[in-house]
Amino acid sequence: MRENSARWLKAGDPDAVSSSVATRFAQVFDREAAGVWFAPGRANLNGEHIDFHGGRCLPMAVRHGTYAAAAPREDGLLRLRTLEPNLDTGVVELDADGASAEEPAPEWTRYVSGVRWAMQQISDPSQLQLPSGFGADVLIRSTLPIGAGLSSSASLECAAALAFTALGTEVGREYPDGDLTVGLSDELRAVLAQACMRAEVEAVGAGTGGLDQTASLRAAEGKLVSLDCRDFSVVRTDISFLLRDYRFLAVDTGQPHALAESEFGARREESEAAAAALGVQQLRDALPEKPRKADVERALARFDEAVGAADLGQKDPQACRRRLKHALGEMMRSEKIHALLNGDAHGVDHTVEMIGEVMTSGHLSMREDAEVSFPLADQVVDAVLGAGALGARLIGGGFGGSVLVLCPKDATEQVTAAAARLSGGIRFLSVQPSAAARVV
Ligand code: GLA
Repeated sequence: MRENSARWLKAGDPDAVSSSVATRFAQVFDREAAGVWFAPGRANLNGEHIDFHGGRCLPMAVRHGTYAAAAPREDGLLRLRTLEPNLDTGVVELDADGASAEEPAPEWTRYVSGVRWAMQQISDPSQLQLPSGFGADVLIRSTLPIGAGLSSSASLECAAALAFTALGTEVGREYPDGDLTVGLSDELRAVLAQACMRAEVEAVGAGTGGLDQTASLRAAEGKLVSLDCRDFSVVRTDISFLLRDYRFLAVDTGQPHALAESEFGARREESEAAAAALGVQQLRDALPEKPRKADVERALARFDEAVGAADLGQKDPQACRRRLKHALGEMMRSEKIHALLNGDAHGVDHTVEMIGEVMTSGHLSMREDAEVSFPLADQVVDAVLGAGALGARLIGGGFGGSVLVLCPKDATEQVTAAAARLSGGIRFLSVQPSAAARVV
């Protein structure tokens, strides 16, 4: 048997990481941090590129995420530094409007200043509004690979949102220190998730549909989050029964989703054009509550009838059709898993098998219809399935990033060895459904 050279990226012990970030904070800013806040990344079992169409997504938070050590400032400045070697340029100072002497400010800092701005726009009754003169020193450390499709951006936003909540809002005053984790009700977390989403869309200018921020702020230990993006309601399903003999792992291909922004936007616009051709507000409205394959086919036939007369704004009708096919199929797959996990019991092995099949069909759809996959991701999927995995799919926005794998625990060695052989840049992360953003 070949030696397994799989490299695992550890999440680290939260208390140890937190205290090392606090120590570094004191060195960098020459003062003590008021606290350290953590927000996780996510893996998504199904439901890619459909959050912005009102579809259902099935994320879980992972152990890896972003730590933010912070302390408030009286002068309205944000002074930010990251310990991420590829991004660290020392302390970046932003004024009350988010402007920096270094223009343009490094991209990552805009996620943080964007959250401050968005939290200043929150309406007061939630008591999560930040005052206009709010400033802070913040030191960031991430245990997530950056740009690996595991939501490193949203976890940065959410860690900043928690720190700012603690340091600058009524809710923070009402729930000091560790009490904040529990004091932040699901309703308040939903308000913060919306603010983080707003930061990303309006301040950074990236297209996000809210999946990542919701997972980071509203996930739960041992649970899969079933998120209905029509109204952002969630059902949390205990999947610990699956995790006795089976496991999830993420294969970070090492190929970051460079250039993803414009491609992501183009895919989204094509699917929105398809929605307009169908005459629906959002694509989820093109399917019944419990969609079946025949419903997807009927909607595609309606598109084919409508497309001649529709204004697709110069977009290729066949490309729009493929985006539509992906979105509707992905919605159907999510509803199928939701029903499976929240309905009649089918026995663990059967349930796992069905989830695995849905994952792999999700990948095919990402490859053929959403067209957001890339050769290494396809090779990883084939290799792990060949080595005993039950399901595998590209997760996140695509054009780089990670493949989520479901496999029997005792097949971990073969599965990781098969993937590791494909590229020296591949790393593995254990995916265990974890708790939402919290004080550490
Ligand atoms: C990115 C976006 C999310 C979602 C996924 C694809 O992560 O931020 O809102 O659209 O891509 O499912």
